[in-house]
Amino acid sequence: MRDRAAKTGKLPSDAPVVRAPGSAALSAALANLAASGEAFRLAVIGTPGTGKTTAVGEVIREYVRLSPGLVVAVDAAAKRRFDGLLPSEMVAVRESISDLTARPLLPGVRMLVIRTRVFEGERVDVEEITRYCWRLIGRRKKVLLVNDELVPHAVEFCQFKGGERSDLKRAFHEGREHGLSLVWGTQDLTDVPISAVGLSSSIWCFQTAASGLKILRRRDYLDGVPKRLIENLPDAETPAEDRGDFVRLRAGKAWDRTLYRF
Ligand SMILES: Nc1ncnc2c1ncn2[C@@H]1O[C@H](COP(=O)(O)OP(=O)(O)OP(=O)(O)O)[C@@H](O)[C@H]1O
Ligand SMILES: [Mg+2]
Repeated sequence: MRDRAAKTGKLPSDAPVVRAPGSAALSAALANLAASGEAFRLAVIGTPGTGKTTAVGEVIREYVRLSPGLVVAVDAAAKRRFDGLLPSEMVAVRESISDLTARPLLPGVRMLVIRTRVFEGERVDVEEITRYCWRLIGRRKKVLLVNDELVPHAVEFCQFKGGERSDLKRAFHEGREHGLSLVWGTQDLTDVPISAVGLSSSIWCFQTAASGLKILRRRDYLDGVPKRLIENLPDAETPAEDRGDFVRLRAGKAWDRTLYRF
């Protein structure tokens, strides 16, 4: 049994579930970036308050450590969650791309946060931000574009807001070869374009409802995941300090029987 498991890379289905630090999932997700600079696409999904943004922060920190690229983080709802991640001289906050044009980045900046003036009634333009990322790519820069809340700011009704000619859609389809990495998160998978799910090399899945799991099952992300395991992970009703458990899912690959947590 053990030999067959070693050959196929599959763990036997009765192997115990183990725990590992989130950093182990992070190393796996960014292994090719670390080895050869290859861009990656990672999705972080789960119901409200389960630990997605906390995990995205860890991805940003590790990207800055491993890559010379610029992090472009969309703070569509002005939640200020990424402010303290890096030393302040490495972070620039702008309201929009036109604000960025008026106030270009200083040397040494590693993360650009686009924080929309939502309280003044403005709405983020993720397509415009993605076009800026493509312009950087055209100048041979590497970029990590972070959309912590893909729904509803960048996609709605299973469509990219930019439609067929969406620059974000192109980032999903063509970004990897050009050094454009993507991290995206959502509370609810049902409004995400199916290509965004299929094109993400791994998904970190926190507590998620059955409707989202149905989509993941259809896309073959749930091989070997026991019934109700993901539904029963810590959620917003769990004390905050006990949240953050997630599983690492890859399409067509057997589950690694590991619960991760940062
Ligand atoms: N790894 C962790 N260790 C300790 N506490 C955590 C961890 N992850 C999350 N938490 C706790 O859960 C709270 C919610 O986490 P976070 O904001 O990352 O969730 P979220 O999934 O992004 O929520 P939302 O969907 O509302 O944006 C945090 O403020 C923190 O108290
Ligand atoms: Mg969040």
